[in-house]
Amino acid sequence: MAALLDDPALAERIFAHIDEGTTDLAAAGWREPVANYRSQARFDAELERVLRRTATPFCPSAALAEPGAYVARVAAGTPVVALRDADGVARAYRNSCRHRGMQVVEGSGCARALACRYHGWTYGLDGALKHVPHAHGFPDLDKSRHGLVPLPTFEKSGLVFVAQDPAARDDGSFDRVPDLIGKDQRLFAARESLLPANWKIFLEGFLEGYHIKTTHPSTFLPFGYDNLNVIEYFGRNSRVVFPFQRIEKLRDVPPAQRRLGGAVTYVYQLFPNAVVTVLSHHTALLILEPVSLGETRLVTYSLTNRPASDPKAQADAERDAAFVNQTGGAEDAAVVCAIQRGLASGANEEFVYGRFEGAIAHFHRALDAALAS
Ligand code: FES
Ligand SMILES: [Fe+2]
Repeated sequence: MAALLDDPALAERIFAHIDEGTTDLAAAGWREPVANYRSQARFDAELERVLRRTATPFCPSAALAEPGAYVARVAAGTPVVALRDADGVARAYRNSCRHRGMQVVEGSGCARALACRYHGWTYGLDGALKHVPHAHGFPDLDKSRHGLVPLPTFEKSGLVFVAQDPAARDDGSFDRVPDLIGKDQRLFAARESLLPANWKIFLEGFLEGYHIKTTHPSTFLPFGYDNLNVIEYFGRNSRVVFPFQRIEKLRDVPPAQRRLGGAVTYVYQLFPNAVVTVLSHHTALLILEPVSLGETRLVTYSLTNRPASDPKAQADAERDAAFVNQTGGAEDAAVVCAIQRGLASGANEEFVYGRFEGAIAHFHRALDAALAS
């Protein structure tokens, strides 16, 4: 599995593009049938055959900071709870009580045991059914066979991955990639919102810099460049790097000592439906949960870039996140919603992607391959 460029190599490639007025180019463009955004059968297959069969990022490890910390939400249509067990291991379960199916926990919090609020069946963090109120009513119940149903779970790169298929496992694509979220980064916000657009349209908006000049003329463009990106692939995932103009300050730094934090935005696309953006002062894990053909729940976790011990880390991170969300992020969301409305126009049989949009083609290629497997 190819490693990503380190910062000195990345800086060199960015400076070459600035000097020559170029950007990374894919070998060819791509065409995606519009029917793939409008077909219920295709949507169902994406959930069933891809999202539920892939180990996908569920939350940052920092969301399960201490034993008993849990996060519950719907992932690819399945209620799931992830938690940190008393032994420090991250685990996940189908979030459905083994009595009559109530969701055992909602939202996030910290608990020593998970008690269903319908009739009080109580599970340990290890998923074992520990307590059944008035147990004499269930003379034949084998408690050992009524624990929460576990899901394959592992932590890598500062993320908790959960799979819904026992056969899904770590594909090794992060093995040669630096941690996306470090241990000392502090989680300062977690929120969800519903966007009226297909999840793939939403995702595509993160993966190219061809739109920066026209979509973000007064927000991102004054700090960045028109259509200038470095695009790399690791397994089914990709990284798109967007330089800021302040990278120019690094021209005077000896090449081997160039560090790009604060001088670029890194966008990591984690197949299929997660994105990690590393901005100047904060990092966000964005999970694009398909709700229906035309609706996506955006789950956002925001973390500081600098350690919590730095007294200004959180204020800087909050300001950074607010700027991005209220300016360029809002512009992107407006475009995504307009594309979704445009699907009904009948104008396009296919969408056409140019050689600047290689990360989108990489995603669609991987999605097609996963659907066909
Ligand atoms: S459904 Fe959970 S205790 Fe009854
Ligand atoms: Fe954008």
